[in-house]
Formats: sequence, C-alpha cells, structure tokens
Amino acid sequence: MIKKCKFYMNMICKIVKKEVVDLADYKASYNDVAGTYEYWVEEMGRFTDHIIKPQLICEKIDNGNEPIKVLDFACGTGYISRKLLLSSIPCEITAVDLSEKMLEVCNDLSLQGVNLIHMDGMTFLENTTEQYDLILCGWALPYFSHEKLFKNFGRVLKKDGVIGVIANSRGTLDKMEKIFLKVMEKNPHEVSKPMNIAFNLPNGEKGLKQWFEKQGFYPLELHEGERVFSFDTGEALLDWLNQTGVMAGSKMIFKDYDQIKEQLIEEIEKLKYDDGKYSINHKFVYGIFNSRGTT
Ligand SMILES: C[S@@+](CC[C@H](N)C(=O)[O-])C[C@H]1O[C@@H](n2cnc3c(N)ncnc32)[C@H](O)[C@@H]1O
Repeated sequence: MIKKCKFYMNMICKIVKKEVVDLADYKASYNDVAGTYEYWVEEMGRFTDHIIKPQLICEKIDNGNEPIKVLDFACGTGYISRKLLLSSIPCEITAVDLSEKMLEVCNDLSLQGVNLIHMDGMTFLENTTEQYDLILCGWALPYFSHEKLFKNFGRVLKKDGVIGVIANSRGTLDKMEKIFLKVMEKNPHEVSKPMNIAFNLPNGEKGLKQWFEKQGFYPLELHEGERVFSFDTGEALLDWLNQTGVMAGSKMIFKDYDQIKEQLIEEIEKLKYDDGKYSINHKFVYGIFNSRGTT
C-alpha cells in the first residue's frame, strides 16, 4: 500500500512539474508510425469522411467564385486533403503537421498545390495572419488544450467559416490506461514520465458540443460511434495500437519500452480477453460547427 502511494505521489509530482510525455515525444512517435499509419486510415478513414462534406461545405460557405481556403490541421499523411482534392470543390489547402515523416507521405499533395507546413499546430495558429473558410481536424484533439485550440480556430476562421472535427472520445481504448498503470506500478524504476492525454478527450457528443459552445460555435451535425477490433493474440492487439499511432507517446512512458513490452502483453491477455479474442474499442465523436449552428 505504501509502495503504491509513493508511486502515485511521484506521478502527481511529475505531472505538476510537467515532466510528462510532450510535444517532442508525440513528434518522435508519429515519425515512427508514418510507415504504418495507413492501417488506421484503411479502417477508420470512412468515419473521417463524415466531416468532409462537399455539399454542406458549399451550402454554408459563400465564397463567390473563389476557391475555399481550407486548413487541414494536424494533417498526418494527408487523408483529409486528398479527399478534398478528389471532391468537386475548388479549394486552396494548407496542411500543417508536427511530424516530418508523416508529411513526407504527403509529397504527392504538394505537387497538387497543397501548402504543406511542418510546424507545431498551436504555434502555426498563433502566428498565422491567414483566415480560413474551413478548418478540418482529424483525430488530433488530445494533443492540444481544447480551450486554447478552439479559441485559436475561432481567430483564424472567417466570419461564416466552418469547422469539422473527428476525435477519440472518453471511454475509448477501454482498460488500456489501467493496463499501463499496472505495469508502471510494478516497475516504478522503469518509468520515465507519465502521459496525461485522457484529460483532453471529449465526453461524446455532449462533451464536444459543450467545448465548442464555450467558444461560440454550434453544431450543424454531431454524432458519435464506436468500432471494435479483435485479434488472436495480445501481442497483435498491442502491435495494432503501436502501428496506428492511437497510443502515440505511450512508449516514452518507459525508460526501455522493449523490456516492458512482455508485461504489457501479459496484462492485455488478462484484461482484454473476450470470447476467444483480444478486443479493443475505438470510441469517437465527430461534428461540423459554425457560429450559427442548425437554428
Ligand atoms: C492520428 S494522426 C491524424 C492525421 C490526420 N488528420 C488523419 O485524419 O488521418 C494525428 C496527427 O497529429 C499530429 N500532431 C500531433 N501533435 C501535433 C501538434 N502539436 N501540431 C501539429 N500536429 C500534431 C501528428 O504528427 C499526427 O500526424
């Protein structure tokens, strides 16, 4: 019990001192993931499509004959920009991401006129003098303080502009936090820094709506969903998490991840076994917002 208390006190101290998985760690993680991120896109891209709605975009954004100015925020390997280019909407796209390796996969987009920017997204928002008709942000909310992010989205969005967001929501990756904490508790000397991403997950539709309304944006569309993936082994489940980037940064919790990996697999096999398989859920929420909403 004393050992457990000591461990949690130490973790709280680290969080207070901001010795946590940080920007540099997420960047390094996504650089590692760039070659396998397509696994995520192949399975989950169809949900991202719900925020790329050419018809709705054209209805809401009156831009005369000018191309629509789009910001693909935390663009990753460019799924959203690529979809927009395939649509019939004339647009001028700026795509920003922190990871140079993810951006390398976007080289084809650069040849099609997309302005690729390698930068921390928040730094970009705070310094740009551009204004956008449309901001799209796929699967990147937890890496930012949502209040600061939406405030800055508001600043760079034109008056009648539209924002589309899809993000993991609270309850996603059920029991994974518990599994990591258990292994961390058992190996306190192997822990380098904790990760406090869970605070940044919206609580489903209601939570995302609240976050946006606080900044003066109201939903045109709002939905939530869940997808469950099953694997034959605990190791395959952990590989999926690592290859798709859904637990980006989590390797950096430990001084030597390879030493700890077996213990993570053991805990996954104990806690994630369900009906002959090892399953993991991805809970998510998506919405399209503007300053007026549906009414
Ligand atoms: C899950 S991927 C999403 C990629 C893409 N939006 C999509 O829908 O497929 C998350 C992306 O956020 C980027 N990212 C994380 N933190 C960031 C930051 N501070 N600034 C810019 N991009 C960041 C990562 O590099 C990664 O490419």
